[in-house]
Amino acid sequence: MTLTLAVPKESAPGERRVALVPSVVKALAKLGVNILVEKGAGENSGFDDTDYQGAEIGAAATIYKQADILLKVQPPSLGEAGKLKAGGILLGFLAPYAGDDRIKKLLERNVSAFAMELVPRITRAQSIDALSSQASIAGYKAALLAASLCPRLFPMLTTAAGTIRPAKALIIGAGVAGLQAIATTKRLGAITEAYDVRSATKEQVESLGGKFVDTGVKAEGEGGYARELTAAEKQQQQEVLAERIALADAVISTAAIPGRAAPKIIDRATVERMKRGSVIIDLAAESGGNCELTQAGKQTDHHGVVIYGPTNITSTAASHASEMYARNLYNLLVLMVKDGELRLDWDDQVIADSCLTHAGEIRHAPTRERVEGDKK
Ligand code: NAI
Repeated sequence: MTLTLAVPKESAPGERRVALVPSVVKALAKLGVNILVEKGAGENSGFDDTDYQGAEIGAAATIYKQADILLKVQPPSLGEAGKLKAGGILLGFLAPYAGDDRIKKLLERNVSAFAMELVPRITRAQSIDALSSQASIAGYKAALLAASLCPRLFPMLTTAAGTIRPAKALIIGAGVAGLQAIATTKRLGAITEAYDVRSATKEQVESLGGKFVDTGVKAEGEGGYARELTAAEKQQQQEVLAERIALADAVISTAAIPGRAAPKIIDRATVERMKRGSVIIDLAAESGGNCELTQAGKQTDHHGVVIYGPTNITSTAASHASEMYARNLYNLLVLMVKDGELRLDWDDQVIADSCLTHAGEIRHAPTRERVEGDKK
């Protein structure tokens, strides 16, 4: 029987993206699957039901029931996970570092769940890397937010009313989001400097025209990610960065360590050294924030410094974010579906690494240890 691939409307509050966009339907259909899209699924990303040519549009109640393969953006709620077809496939951001009840529900339903967060950061998987596609949008939008909240203009302007000096932007964390924020603040005309604990980022920052801030702290961890800093390293980092933060008109912080709370880099005393009218955009807000004063989802004011910790910032560019995400999912599906049939090749690193649950087991070791540790 032909496999049905279904796409629900996202239910999480504030989520505007959708896991399938009309331009990807044709390519997906060529994999030999039926495509079922929930009524109104694309409307918050700018797509009408009638745009999904080649897909069937169905009522909410039919989506989970019929899905041999379900495509999601956000992790399913507990209720949604309970509705997944037994033995079905689930692809999406699945927050493997949290939500143990949901993971247990996936096991109960014998769902083969593939988490976009677990796709390996290898060259071959770049077109599947949804963390990167979405982080790049976040970095771009963070720079625009900074420019819009800052009472100073970013570019140098020479006008009849005098010359305006360019703003100073400081980007903390030069991963995918940070590099895009550097490129965007540069394009807007700001003098941009950036800092990361991974020394490999120095060259990347400079190639975008940014100045690298050297704190003398290097903390390369596993898999190309950063590791947590020791207390002495934190102190050293803090001292150098505080000087640079005090001079900045806009700080965009993106520092993260996968599966951990965000490192605290900007303390209250440092914020109090900043000029009135300066802005901090804290992209790490959802995992606790890089700034001690950040409140997730809120814009606050501390002695004239605006601190904003946006949540789900990618949803503010839902159209393009969905387009990129849908292509990431498609490129993963190409590895799984051949001639209309599901063929999971466990020797393929991308399939093996991204699998969260399969055949009633948790395949991602750190998640297994955490969830099964719970049982004891
Ligand atoms: P992320 O979102 O986990 O972290 C963001 C940035 O924060 C990272 O650059 C990290 O080094 C930095 N950071 C952590 N602690 C910090 C601290 N205390 N102070 C300052 N900065 C701190 O990382 P993201 O953006 O997801 O990328 C992580 C790595 O993956 C990078 O090495 C990137 O180049 C690599 N990558 C490789 C790809 C590939 O080869 N296919 C694709 C995408 C990313």
